[in-house]
Amino acid sequence: MKYKKYFRKSSIKNIAEGNLFLKEINKINPKTFFEIGIFQGVLAKNVCDLMFNNHGLNFKYYGVDIFETDEIYKNEIAPSLKINNPLKRLYFKYIKKYNPYSIEAVEDLLKDYKNNIKLIKGNSNTALKDINIKNIDLIFIDGGHDYNTVKNDLNFSKKIISQNGTILCDDYNLTYAEGVKKAIDEFIKENACKHQILLERFVKINL
Ligand SMILES: C[S@@+](CC[C@H](N)C(=O)[O-])C[C@H]1O[C@@H](n2cnc3c(N)ncnc32)[C@H](O)[C@@H]1O
Repeated sequence: MKYKKYFRKSSIKNIAEGNLFLKEINKINPKTFFEIGIFQGVLAKNVCDLMFNNHGLNFKYYGVDIFETDEIYKNEIAPSLKINNPLKRLYFKYIKKYNPYSIEAVEDLLKDYKNNIKLIKGNSNTALKDINIKNIDLIFIDGGHDYNTVKNDLNFSKKIISQNGTILCDDYNLTYAEGVKKAIDEFIKENACKHQILLERFVKINL
């Protein structure tokens, strides 16, 4: 599988890194994937394509995102929403007629899989507690970068690793969001987890 950018922004900036990321996901071979921090849905689309390739329509993707910008989220350090490429600006304004960072835009990007996905608009600090997390093979934590949010997201994921699932966290190496590494290191120590750093930025965690 080749990583595609779908004319949108994503955490993964180049195709080579995206391809290596997909190779790692393919090794885990999830049938049920949960993403905290969907953003514009590029990673979601790539992972759904990979799961479709491996399992046909017998897969599930769940994702949660605030899908909004507000001063109260400033410590979460969300990526910039500015569209620098004028062609892209015109594409979203006049052709798509939506903001690429909206639940509608992600639903549109994932429309081929509409029966396989569930997108939740909400703050992971409060939204996750209502979610039934049975049978999730892989949870990708890439939402808020505040220390307390990462801690919350990891604590939610504890049940997933206790059921043989895997946690994958992004931005372990992010120097301007040190709370991410601190929360991950504490979680690994407190729960005596096995872990492996991948591509210098992701941490794969299992029991
Ligand atoms: C780095 S981006 C995710 C990128 C996406 N995983 C990708 O690879 O394309 C982080 C996302 O998390 C969202 N976010 C920030 N704080 C959050 C919170 N407390 N709960 C849910 N989502 C949050 C941001 O709005 C942003 O869309």
